[in-house]
Amino acid sequence: MIAITGASGHLGKATLEFLRTKTSPDSLVALVRDPAKVADLAAQGIQVRAGDYDDSASLVASLAGIDTLVLISSSVTGPERVRQHTNVIEAAKEAGVKHVFYTSAPKPSLEARFTPAIDHFLTEELLKESGLTYTIFRNSIYLDVLPGLVGNAAETGQLFYPAGEGKVSFVLRADIAEGLANALTTEGHENKIYEIGAPLSWSFKDIAAVLSQNGKTVEYIDIPTRAFEAELMKHLPAPVAKVYTGLAEAIKHNELNEPDPALENLLGRTPVSLAEFLKNRA
Ligand SMILES: NC(=O)c1ccc[n+]([C@@H]2O[C@H](COP(=O)([O-])OP(=O)(O)OC[C@H]3O[C@@H](n4cnc5c(N)ncnc54)[C@H](OP(=O)(O)O)[C@@H]3O)[C@@H](O)[C@H]2O)c1
Repeated sequence: MIAITGASGHLGKATLEFLRTKTSPDSLVALVRDPAKVADLAAQGIQVRAGDYDDSASLVASLAGIDTLVLISSSVTGPERVRQHTNVIEAAKEAGVKHVFYTSAPKPSLEARFTPAIDHFLTEELLKESGLTYTIFRNSIYLDVLPGLVGNAAETGQLFYPAGEGKVSFVLRADIAEGLANALTTEGHENKIYEIGAPLSWSFKDIAAVLSQNGKTVEYIDIPTRAFEAELMKHLPAPVAKVYTGLAEAIKHNELNEPDPALENLLGRTPVSLAEFLKNRA
């Protein structure tokens, strides 16, 4: 039996949908906080069980009979997230789960400028020390979040972002889900760490060039980080503004630049590229 946490979210739900095409729905379990959000999965025969990262007792009960667990990283950041992930890993051990897949990020480290990567580092360490078999998917930044970073640059002709010449191996979230489903239904992924991104990476200058292909020239303007942060602070709560500033800083220093063939190998095809993604949105 395979269970997936965060099954009400984009990645968890998409992974279950790919899995359903490869294995019987009776062998799949969706772990959620709110069953109403996955009525569509239940209607397909997928079992729905309680899966709140803050409720250890119910997690242990929900993991009964599960061989493989996918721990989708929580949407909070900082010590709370590491505590939640600890709860899930401890519950998995107690319930007799054998193998845990975890969704991490590129280059996790205690010094990461993109602070969620600090939580990922600590969670990876916990998982490696747990004695459980693990598979870590170090997911790059989703192409799906790119429109939020470029704003209306295609219309104005100016792409403002403080990333210098740093590059990112952006990846489509649906491609990660398909790669996860493929790894979950094949052998040979025990105690492996996969860099899950495109086989190549793109700078913001490259993104401006792709946006320019629709007839209007888009220029990339590398703005000062502090000016970017000050602007974000006007519109967002300070901790959120700091995470987005850290993301830009991390990109500038190539901390999210990890092109790798792992996802291409898992998919058996080229992952969706930045140009294809932006073309399909136009
Ligand atoms: N690589 C990237 O660019 C990128 C971007 C954004 C996020 N992420 C990370 O990747 C994860 C998966 O991405 P996604 O697009 O699927 O995110 P998403 O759509 O926001 O889904 C997050 C999932 O986590 C669940 N969750 C949050 N807190 C929980 C808790 N305390 N107990 C149980 N479940 C909890 C949510 O449940 P509810 O439906 O109950 O809220 C939801 O199912 C995110 O959670 C985040 O850690 C990566």
